[in-house]
Amino acid sequence: MKDIPNPHPLKSPEEVTRFQDSLLAWYDQYQRDLPWRSHPSLYKTVISEFMLQQTRVSTVLPYFENWLTKFPDFHKLAQATEEGVMKTWEGLGYYSRARNLHKLAKIATTWKTPPATLKDWKELPGVGPYIAAAVTSISLDKPNAVCDGNLVRVLTRIFSIEKEYKDGATAQKKLQPLAQSLIDADRPGDYNQAMMELGATVCHRQSPLCLTCPVINFCESGWAGDAESFPRIQKKKNRKKSIQRYWVECKSELLLFTDLHSKNKLSGIYELPQEVPTGFKHDAEAVENMGIRKRTIGNVDYEEEILRISDFTSEVEEFEEGYLWADKEKMKEITLSGPHRKWIEEILEEGG
Ligand code: ADE
Repeated sequence: MKDIPNPHPLKSPEEVTRFQDSLLAWYDQYQRDLPWRSHPSLYKTVISEFMLQQTRVSTVLPYFENWLTKFPDFHKLAQATEEGVMKTWEGLGYYSRARNLHKLAKIATTWKTPPATLKDWKELPGVGPYIAAAVTSISLDKPNAVCDGNLVRVLTRIFSIEKEYKDGATAQKKLQPLAQSLIDADRPGDYNQAMMELGATVCHRQSPLCLTCPVINFCESGWAGDAESFPRIQKKKNRKKSIQRYWVECKSELLLFTDLHSKNKLSGIYELPQEVPTGFKHDAEAVENMGIRKRTIGNVDYEEEILRISDFTSEVEEFEEGYLWADKEKMKEITLSGPHRKWIEEILEEGG
């Protein structure tokens, strides 16, 4: 540890300014060319930050472009149907983000001027501390610091913060004041984006590129060569859950289900059913196991066993609400969850 400059380089306000200047000079030269950064607008910032909140940049890029083509502004988004919005979001996951964006757009069409404070933004649907700080800093030039996973990594490394946090969300909350203490009030949006950019492109979780880091001179763990050992976050094992899904095909149509009435985040998004509908009769012995597929939602690892029912009868004309027979064309129109679309396509390609 003898190489660590002492006193710590970020001790004085002048050093904070030097840190900000080094970071912003790097950002000005090396920032990625991202579509929400060219001709920025409040709308583009809101859409991109909602998308980026739980999803990486490379995944978001094609969705962002497609979204802007379909819904170029708050008005067009407000006028869209819920199905159209969900369909355009299909595959990005965490669908409540799309529902909340739709609600937010309806509110935005009533604004004379957009809200300008963190507090007002946090009252909007789906807007938490991260999005409120990102939007107000990037679009409205307010000195509000973001503290996402990137910032947690960068800050704990710069200051060699040994504290072990319960989880990522706790770390973000606890480190927000530190993030706030370093923000450049003259360029808050660029500063926030530069810190996230640094986390995403240099200060990697594994094998951080300390040798090319623009703020290595300010970074305690970078100097010590142990940046990778931060942040310290308790590792929690995901819960495991096994469920069954039914594969019921009839005349090239597949039976799908969505729970329209639950508060479930997947409400309105079709999947293979977990239960057969009322009035559906089949021989429990004549069920064929089509294999187990795996997916993770939040902190639950699901094992989904797909069971084919080929021999069945129906005692009703039509199944209850939520069930849908869909052929290949219909499947293109409706919103399926990302994993189920992939599994269904794979099974159909294999010849069902
Ligand atoms: N991650 C989330 N928002 C970002 C932004 N605006 N720039 C870089 N990384 C981000």
